[in-house]
Amino acid sequence: MALSGLFFIAFVLGHMYGNLKAFAGQDSFNEYAEHLREYGQPILPYSGLLWIVRVGLVGSLAVHVYAALTLWARAKRARTTPYVMKKRTGATWASLIMRWGGVTLLLFIAWHLLNFSFGKVNVTGGPTNDPYILLVDTFATWWLTVIYLVAMAALGAHLHHGFWSACQTLGLTGSARSRSLAKGVGLTLALVIVVGFSLVPLGVLVGIIEK
Ligand code: HEM
Repeated sequence: MALSGLFFIAFVLGHMYGNLKAFAGQDSFNEYAEHLREYGQPILPYSGLLWIVRVGLVGSLAVHVYAALTLWARAKRARTTPYVMKKRTGATWASLIMRWGGVTLLLFIAWHLLNFSFGKVNVTGGPTNDPYILLVDTFATWWLTVIYLVAMAALGAHLHHGFWSACQTLGLTGSARSRSLAKGVGLTLALVIVVGFSLVPLGVLVGIIEK
């Protein structure tokens, strides 16, 4: 779970950086989208690197979800009678955020791929063959912007706790210093990713990114 999670973090950081090209305008964003497909040529075929990343993502997702379901079932078996104490402790909040946040992210990713990758759904009825226009049309639709911003908040919370958890799993939290470092890095990563991703929908909302 830790290793697949770290792979996702690397992917979202790269993806977030690429999305920010939208601030440089239509040509820059679309050129970047095209470069993703040409990268590695002629050693790799057109879209070759993209397919390698896609296969890595699908494999990591399968591992991540399988591990989550196994943990969920194990936690259920370990405690068959409910706790008498009603007050929530930090640990139960964290597990709620990880479980339901994870399910929210799965639903978001399914919609997101339908929206931008495999489906290319333009809810305004506009063109779907121009990545930049599809992006602007998507976030010019207020309820889609809300969905994306809520999903980014869920991603931030998931990542914040997930990074800490991964460090624990990998045995990197043995001392007080390493624990506070892991917490600090997790929080910084989560903030950078939430703000970085949210800037694009917000940029469309305030009219900085436009057709
Ligand atoms: C505001 C947030 C986001 C925006 C504006 C955004 C935008 C985009 C766009 C424009 C594409 C199509 C790229 C292309 O075909 O060249 C794309 C693809 C994709 N995005 Fe996002 N994205 C966002 C957040 C995320 C997040 C949080 C994840 C993962 C957790 C994610 C995962 C993906 C994946 C897996 C693809 C498919 C890449 C492929 O076609 O192989 N995105 N996104």
